[in-house]
Amino acid sequence: MARSGKVTVVGAGFYGSTTALRLAEYDIFETVVLTDILEGKSEGLALDMNQSRSIEGFETKVVGATTTPEGAGYEATANSDVVVITAGLPRKPGMSRMDLIGVNAGIVRGVAENISKHSPNAVIIVVSNPLDEMTALAQLATNFPKNRVIGQAGMLDTARFTNNVAEKLGVSTASVKTLTLGSHGDTMVPVPSRCTVDGKPLSDLLSQTEIDELVDRTRNGGAEVVALLKTGSAYYAPSAAAARMAKAVIEDSGAVMPVCAWVDGQYGISGVYLGVEAEIGKGGVKKVVESALTESEVAALKVAAEAVRAKQADVKDL
Ligand code: LAC
Repeated sequence: MARSGKVTVVGAGFYGSTTALRLAEYDIFETVVLTDILEGKSEGLALDMNQSRSIEGFETKVVGATTTPEGAGYEATANSDVVVITAGLPRKPGMSRMDLIGVNAGIVRGVAENISKHSPNAVIIVVSNPLDEMTALAQLATNFPKNRVIGQAGMLDTARFTNNVAEKLGVSTASVKTLTLGSHGDTMVPVPSRCTVDGKPLSDLLSQTEIDELVDRTRNGGAEVVALLKTGSAYYAPSAAAARMAKAVIEDSGAVMPVCAWVDGQYGISGVYLGVEAEIGKGGVKKVVESALTESEVAALKVAAEAVRAKQADVKDL
């Protein structure tokens, strides 16, 4: 099997290490690099993952590297095709994603600057929170073209919505199609017109109150996991989403996914990173896909855009 390319995952916490393992198990990359500022952590995890190769049947080589905020150790990441930035602190119970903005801005800015020096042609996938703002910040810090910096959130929120609907109706997740756009936070926008079960509109199967409950649960899906875990935040579903995005980039698949992308005129919205559907491939976002939403869905998307625009304007000073 032909393997190609190099993907770096920055941050070897649960999110980063699970993403690295998923990427390695795809067995499509030549190399997966995992970095962390904790001495030896990523090297240890990389060794452990490599030791699983003969059991799981993949040949991708995982490389661990300790890095410093000043940039030592980043040589191991040089010329990556894709970089997933998971660095930063996760939420604690009761915290909103926005509570992390001060501390995570410094971390993400530093990482993004180091990445831009060593991998000037990479596509960057940001997952650090608050997601929409950290994506905007990574673009500013790297000065990469906006299509080469994307955030992961829509796939995760959509997957949570799908799971909630499947559980509620007792059907397989494969029969459920949902979509969420907007922000990874309070102004997440569910798209009822794109939610179906075996092709039937969700509104034929559930009352508006029931749908609203599922939407609420989706919007709070991350917080629900945080409250149960008590330390740290979700990583299985988030890493699955981030890894699929990296796969679409390296395979240049053009897969259409809900992601946090730079919006430039679609839906009458411009100049902001926002959760929309986009074709993902080499070079990152090939095209933002504007689909036929209802008037109220577009209105909700515009509200989300203005909410994140205000916050994104602040990140340049953080
Ligand atoms: C979540 C975090 C990762 O939604 O944003 O679980």
